[in-house]
Amino acid sequence: MKETDTLTPKNTHDVLVDLHDVWMGYDGKWVLKSIFFKCYPSEIVGIVGPNGGGKTTLLNIILGLARPQKGSVQVFGHPPDKRSRLEIGYLPQVSHADRSFPVTVLDVVLMGLYNRLGFFSRPDRNSKKDAMDLLSQVHMEEHANTPFGVLSGGQKQRVNIARALASKPKLLVLDEPSTGVDSVAQEDFYELLAMFRNEHGISVIMVSHDIGAITSHADRVACLNRQLHYHGDPDSCFTSDITQKVYGKEHKFIVHDPKCVTCYQRHIDDD
Ligand SMILES: Nc1ncnc2c1ncn2[C@@H]1O[C@H](COP(=O)(O)OP(=O)(O)OP(=O)(O)O)[C@@H](O)[C@H]1O
Ligand SMILES: [Mg+2]
Repeated sequence: MKETDTLTPKNTHDVLVDLHDVWMGYDGKWVLKSIFFKCYPSEIVGIVGPNGGGKTTLLNIILGLARPQKGSVQVFGHPPDKRSRLEIGYLPQVSHADRSFPVTVLDVVLMGLYNRLGFFSRPDRNSKKDAMDLLSQVHMEEHANTPFGVLSGGQKQRVNIARALASKPKLLVLDEPSTGVDSVAQEDFYELLAMFRNEHGISVIMVSHDIGAITSHADRVACLNRQLHYHGDPDSCFTSDITQKVYGKEHKFIVHDPKCVTCYQRHIDDD
């Protein structure tokens, strides 16, 4: 399969993440087939696709948590390892957080600092100040002493981003961070990501099922259903040819305008 990247920024030598002809499978069945995927500095890449399409598996490969059977993976210029993971702020795909989670908002951000400090270090006054600075960047400093479990979905999302930023990453990897968050909070969240991209040069690789939001806010979109059917400009992502390949023939999209795609059918196995 040939590369599907249709929009390549000028500074291609600065590629942060480069997957070349990657194949990954479980129990004799391919989950990812011949994936060519790139992420450049200061860009937001959205990954969309049906349940079971291989999105989390792709993120695990970038994080070095899973190793593909074939192909090459370069993250910050070398195969992913512990060192590259320290430069990635990662938010895993989570179910709704436990309301009884017995830590404060400040504690959650301090946990993110352990990466930088080393797991057995105790956070000192400086690290608390750093954590408060991060909370103020996501407008959550007033909630520093609130138990994390009682926050709303959108507030938790902001605190989790502050935690992910604590290790001063070059790259944020987010697996469905908007699940359960209303559209206003989601818009605020994308603005926050754009601010980190614009002011700190941070790149974001983000999985989402909200195709409308991703096509509006990402710089590039990757459409994944075992194969990467599209990797490029959001504006030309949803031609019927690509949506059929990604979501199957029987899907229905409601398109209000080119940037608002609101409905699609679930995964249809294309094997
Ligand atoms: N460790 C594993 N062992 C066996 N099969 C696995 C493993 N991890 C993932 N899979 C399978 O790989 C396929 C892709 O899973 P993955 O979690 O990457 O999908 P996804 O696109 O993230 O889906 P969702 O949108 O539901 O989160 C699924 O069929 C899943 O069952
Ligand atoms: Mg997933």
